[in-house]
Order: sequence, then C-alpha cells, then structure tokens
Amino acid sequence: MSATIPVDKWQYTTVVVRDYRQVVTNFARFFGIDRWEVIRVDGKYLSNSMFEGKAAQHRWISVFGHNGELGIELIQPVDGPSGYQAMLDSVGEGMYGVAASVCEPAQFETLKAELAAQGIGIRQSGTFFDAVDYYQLDTRDALSNVIIEVHCPRRPDWRSAIKPDEVLHMDLKHLGPKFLPTQKMLHIGVVCKDRNRTKANLQNLFGMQRWIEFQIESGVSMEETTYYGQPCYHAYDNHVGRAGELCFELITPRSDKCVYDEFLKERGEGMHHTFPTICSKEEFAAALPELEKHGMPVIQGGRIGDMMEYYYIDTRRYLPGITTEVVIPLRPDWLSLFFPNPGDASILMGD
Ligand SMILES: [Fe+2]
Repeated sequence: MSATIPVDKWQYTTVVVRDYRQVVTNFARFFGIDRWEVIRVDGKYLSNSMFEGKAAQHRWISVFGHNGELGIELIQPVDGPSGYQAMLDSVGEGMYGVAASVCEPAQFETLKAELAAQGIGIRQSGTFFDAVDYYQLDTRDALSNVIIEVHCPRRPDWRSAIKPDEVLHMDLKHLGPKFLPTQKMLHIGVVCKDRNRTKANLQNLFGMQRWIEFQIESGVSMEETTYYGQPCYHAYDNHVGRAGELCFELITPRSDKCVYDEFLKERGEGMHHTFPTICSKEEFAAALPELEKHGMPVIQGGRIGDMMEYYYIDTRRYLPGITTEVVIPLRPDWLSLFFPNPGDASILMGD
C-alpha cells in the first residue's frame, strides 16, 4: 500500500543551528536573502505540542528567509525535548528536513492511516498561532534521516496569522559581495546507505515515479576527480527524483575518500548538500578566492567529458553542517546532450 504526500511549494529547508545570531548573516550573504522573520516558538504561539508520542514542553527559535524559490528556516532549540535538540545532541548542526506539503485536515487523517500502515508515525507535532497544525513525519528510517513536515491549515488565512516577533532587515551590500549566484534549490543531496531503498520509499510516499540515474567512476564516467585538492579515485551512484519543486539526489558511495563516505562515517545517513548554483567557469574562478578567504575551499570535484564540471564547496562552517554543490556547464547544449529526453532534464532543473 502506498501513501501520497501532496507536494505544494517547497516552502523551506530546515537547518538546525546552535545560535542563529552567529550564522544568519552568513545565510543572508550566501543566498542573497535580506529579510528574516524571527519567531520565538513557545507556549505563546504553540499548543498541542507532542514529541515521540508524549505531550511535550519545548521551545525553539525559528528564523525564516526566502529568496524566490529558495526558502531557509533556521531552528535554534531553546529547551525541552524535540527532534531539533536530538539532532544537535547526536550529529550536530545541519540540514534537518523539508517543508513542502500542505494538507486539509481530513486528507491528513487518511494520509496518517496510510503512513501508519507503512510503519511511519508522527515524531513531532503541534499547532502554531491556533491557525495551522504541523506534523513532522518519522521518516528517519525510510528516507535516510530526511524529516518531512506537513502543514494542515485550521483556517484559510493561516499564513497571515503567523506573526514574527522580530524582522531582521539586512543590508546585503554591507555584508559583502555575493559569493556565487544562487538561482533556486535545485536539489538536496542525501547520502544513503542504499539509494535504491530510499528511492523506493520516496516513490511510495510521494508518488515520485520519474528518476534519472548516474553511475560515477573515475576514468569511466568522470575525469579529473579530486578530493581535498588531490587527485582521487571516486566511485558512487545516485538517483535524482522530483515531485514538483521538491527534488532529492540520493547518493551511495562505492569508494572511500569521497565526501559521501566521509559524511556516512561522521554522521550516518542524511542531508549532505544543497545544489543552488549553476554558473560559468569564469564566474566560479572569480568567486573561488573570496570563498577560500572565508574558509570555503573546494573539497571534491570532477568533469564529465566536455559537458560539465562539478565542485563541492566546504561551506560546513559558514553554513553549519552543509556542503554546497556547484555545476559548471562547459557548452551551451550540455543539458540536451546529457538528457536527450527533455523530461529527464526537467527532473534535474525543475520547470
Ligand atoms: Fe547533488
């Protein structure tokens, strides 16, 4: 039996941080987001709080920023048990989950039963501003530690009922030049022990039926592969699947000495990188010194024929726990060469 979690707009990717004030300007500069809404989520705004099947008293600070199709929510846990605190206590800061689903309450009741039949319960839930219920599905096992958040509105004007305590307006020019163009969240890369299992579960949960796949091996399907600045043999496989705006890349390493194997050993499965940037070789060459100056060197890279290069930038300190992928097309027709079927290109690129 399958369930179908609806996908609306990819509202935000949630990132758990220890102190949002230390990093919000980094996210602002990196993604070009000049307005951030801060909400201190506690008993004032939050009711019906549940965590792991029990009524919970917990508080956190939510900080939302949007730039076109790219939304970030920073979460700083304050006290009480929560999925956010559990993440800080186990693997530390980093990407926690995605919010892209809005469901009518009656529809969610049906969905909840379908999910339960697949062994997926609700790990954390509550009501914000008496306007919307949120549910964090316990998809840790099924989706390689990606948490899926679903919103069930209690009233039509629920979005405007959510009022920030504070709005941070940032002068981006004052923060410094943007490092790289960031068009939208093209995908989140998820390191999986078994990409096929996670893919099957995404197919069941979201009805994601269209996928593209790469099998990467140095000297076979990729050249000039590097790891921390040194030439290095890489072997890994991935699947990329999309449901509307929401897109995941599922990666399973077949060799060590690559960022995926390092991530698995350090943190286990989970959300490893964002892919917000496609830029020219010239733009990337111009950006690299400024990235390096801020402690963000290239830690992995490779080239596929004369079509494209890709790099991972070590943004794990600047954007806590997150690595950033950059793709550099080497010829204008790279996408059609890669994907003769335009439907396949749209899985990678969105609409
Ligand atoms: Fe990726």
